[in-house]
Amino acid sequence: MDAVVLAVLAVVGKLRFVFADKDDFTKVRAVNLGGWLVVEGWIKPSLFDGIPNGDMLDGVQVQLKSVALQKYVSAVGGGGGNVNVDQDAASTWETFKLWRVSDSEFQFRCLNGQFLTASNQDVISATTDSPGDSETFYIERNNTLLHIKLLNGSYLQVTNNNQLTSNHRSQPGWGDDMATFQMTIAANNLHGDYQLANGYGPAQAKAVLTEHRKSFVTGNDFFLLSQNGVNAVRIPVGWWIAYDPDPPAPFIGGSLENLDRAFYWAQ
Ligand SMILES: *[C@@H]1O[C@H](CO)[C@@H](O)[C@H](O)[C@H]1NC(C)=O
Ligand SMILES: *[C@@H]1O[C@H](CO)[C@@H](O)[C@H](O)[C@H]1NC(C)=O
Repeated sequence: MDAVVLAVLAVVGKLRFVFADKDDFTKVRAVNLGGWLVVEGWIKPSLFDGIPNGDMLDGVQVQLKSVALQKYVSAVGGGGGNVNVDQDAASTWETFKLWRVSDSEFQFRCLNGQFLTASNQDVISATTDSPGDSETFYIERNNTLLHIKLLNGSYLQVTNNNQLTSNHRSQPGWGDDMATFQMTIAANNLHGDYQLANGYGPAQAKAVLTEHRKSFVTGNDFFLLSQNGVNAVRIPVGWWIAYDPDPPAPFIGGSLENLDRAFYWAQ
């Protein structure tokens, strides 16, 4: 779900040398145009700034500590069975990978690949392999504090015997500790086209990416490169470019059109 496979394409253009030694086309002098047709969060972090709950992108790893018990939610054995709220420290069994459904709806994937589920009466377990409605939780947030709600309106809460249940029916307050969890973000290092498009949703992602692709690399850059003796460029593209203009969701079409412009500029 979060794999970004890079296809790499070299455009060896017929750029004219202006300042390079003679017309020596046997020498390739190339630059990499990264972060353009494949988004890299570290190259242009601001692309992600407008995403609501932007620290909870798809693939982010979180840990949940009960405010009342001061214990972490733990998928026993890494998933496949019970969930307890009994751990003093968080490690792999207590770390959940977010699958982001919308700005405020998430699924929690355990170490072994199962999802937290409300499908077994009142008690939350980690027994479902593919997530649906019973594995989708609505998040209400107050900084790092969370209330976690099912689609039927009930909230998760802890019990004094360290279970996680789904039968808190009224709206909890932030002082209502049994239904309040402290979230720690354990890893947040995936910032690619998938996270961007999934985070903004299709319409806004298209607007953000269209503007980025139009402005991040331009014909003027190619002119400057050629003036400075660069006669090749390497342009990373995503595998989804092969499906342009209609790549599989959530990827946004249009990178092929921009690659075509690069070929044109390179002539
Ligand atoms: C919602 O579903 C959960 C899980 O089945 C259950 O524990 C809870 O009581 C339900 N709430 C309502 C209001 O039906
Ligand atoms: C957030 O939680 C604090 C208590 O931890 C509370 O005082 C505050 O009112 C809450 N903020 C909102 C917007 O609910």
